[in-house]
Amino acid sequence: MRFLNYLLVAATAVNGLLFEIKTDHNSKGPVPVVPTTEGSKKRTSEFQHPGLWHSHEDLEAMRKNSLGGVEPWASAYSRFSNDSYSLATYKMQGPHSVVSRGSISNYTSFANDARAAYQNAIMWYITQDQAHWDRSTTILDAWGTNLTNIIGTDRSLLVGINGVVLANAAEIMRWEGGWVEQGASWKGGSGFSIQLYWLFARQSIIIGQANYGVASIMGLLNFAVYLDDVALYNYALYAYKNDLCAGLTANFDQSTGQGAEAGRDQTHVQDGLQWLSMASRVVKNQGYDLFSLDKNLLFKASEYAAKYNLNGTVPYDASFYRCEAVLVNGPWANISAENRYIGYQNGKTNPACWGITYYEGLSRGLDVPWTKRAKDLYDASVEAQTSPVDFLSWADLLFATKAKSNQ
Ligand SMILES: *[C@@H]1O[C@H](CO)[C@@H](O)[C@H](O)[C@H]1NC(C)=O
Ligand SMILES: *[C@@H]1O[C@H](CO)[C@@H](O)[C@H](O)[C@H]1NC(C)=O
Ligand SMILES: *[C@@H]1O[C@H](CO)[C@@H](O)[C@H](O)[C@H]1NC(C)=O
Ligand SMILES: *[C@@H]1O[C@H](CO)[C@@H](O)[C@H](O)[C@H]1NC(C)=O
Ligand SMILES: *[C@@H]1O[C@H](CO)[C@@H](O)[C@H](O)[C@H]1NC(C)=O
Repeated sequence: MRFLNYLLVAATAVNGLLFEIKTDHNSKGPVPVVPTTEGSKKRTSEFQHPGLWHSHEDLEAMRKNSLGGVEPWASAYSRFSNDSYSLATYKMQGPHSVVSRGSISNYTSFANDARAAYQNAIMWYITQDQAHWDRSTTILDAWGTNLTNIIGTDRSLLVGINGVVLANAAEIMRWEGGWVEQGASWKGGSGFSIQLYWLFARQSIIIGQANYGVASIMGLLNFAVYLDDVALYNYALYAYKNDLCAGLTANFDQSTGQGAEAGRDQTHVQDGLQWLSMASRVVKNQGYDLFSLDKNLLFKASEYAAKYNLNGTVPYDASFYRCEAVLVNGPWANISAENRYIGYQNGKTNPACWGITYYEGLSRGLDVPWTKRAKDLYDASVEAQTSPVDFLSWADLLFATKAKSNQ
């Protein structure tokens, strides 16, 4: 049955048409029970809050260093604070009751508002300015009380990519800002968390292949922590480690770090890298390290992708490729030069995947020279021209750490 679901999700994912995936009996079903694995949780009280992308200590470092003139935080903060999504005067574009991914339907309003809710949450934490608190929470409540459905074949991507941004805003405002969602009630509420549980989390439970699967795993980890859902968290963690079509070793080759879509194009490789890193970030804040899993595979993957996208030569093994490669005209005899660049080029921005592995490596004293070059090039080429998807280009503010020797 699970295999069939993969096929359904995968087959509907590629043709770009919008129609309901007929697996509602499963997507509304229970989370499968998985074997206990290192890093699993047993009780709700084991969750740390805030604990998605940013712990309390992360937020404090961000605030103190930004306001205290410490680099790289201070310069990044001065650009970030002037970004249109960071302004308390940001004009909300939604809410809408139905969204689906793509240009046709309410998607950009959701993506942009989620980003503004998150950036205003960060701004509120740093400045303690009530106007930012108001902007972030009114966006959360507006979407939280209005959105009733996410439709279309790409919904698991929408939920994974943009839903987690909203969840991160909510985590900060709830645990640091004292925000109580509109509609909260002991009788069962009607606001943000209801939506997170019934829409976002439920729509991510069928874990597809390659980046589809990674987006779901990343989404589930964020939502599970927000919701204190032990079973959901363990399920997603297990999939990250073991899913043979969506987990870490399904996406990146253990010996070289080659991406399973390296023969397809480079944007998809960078997406996978970014989303697995972001998933690892959540788990790190829950007290378990996925960055070092399989002998530092994420760092190896980052180095491989950075080197190739910087025009370096890398080994390519045509026998390492993603599940259902046939859906995207694979498998591929050669590594692809499609979208082979870092950051911004010809009106398109590749994923901001370098900053997080760069800083994570720095804090561990790991040598990641290609990743560092890629991050520098990314920062220089992108500056403020980020797309809603690429909010993570603010790594110098959001994920910066001191080098290991300076800690
Ligand atoms: C802030 O953003 C505005 C509009 O994008 C720009 O004109 C201005 O130069 C920026 N100011 C700083 C200090 O970056
Ligand atoms: C966009 O949202 C509106 C409600 O705000 C809804 O009526 C409409 O169906 C949505 N559009 C699509 C294509 O889902
Ligand atoms: C939708 O959001 C607005 C703005 O927060 C809110 O006033 C309204 O009650 C919500 N519900 C509906 C059905 O519009
Ligand atoms: C890689 O090569 C292409 C084509 O020659 C060139 O346009 C691009 O600037 C090079 N990238 C780097 C990082 O040197
Ligand atoms: C692709 O790989 C095959 C097998 O390694 C090789 O013979 C061929 O020349 C390559 N094609 C290109 C366009 O590089």
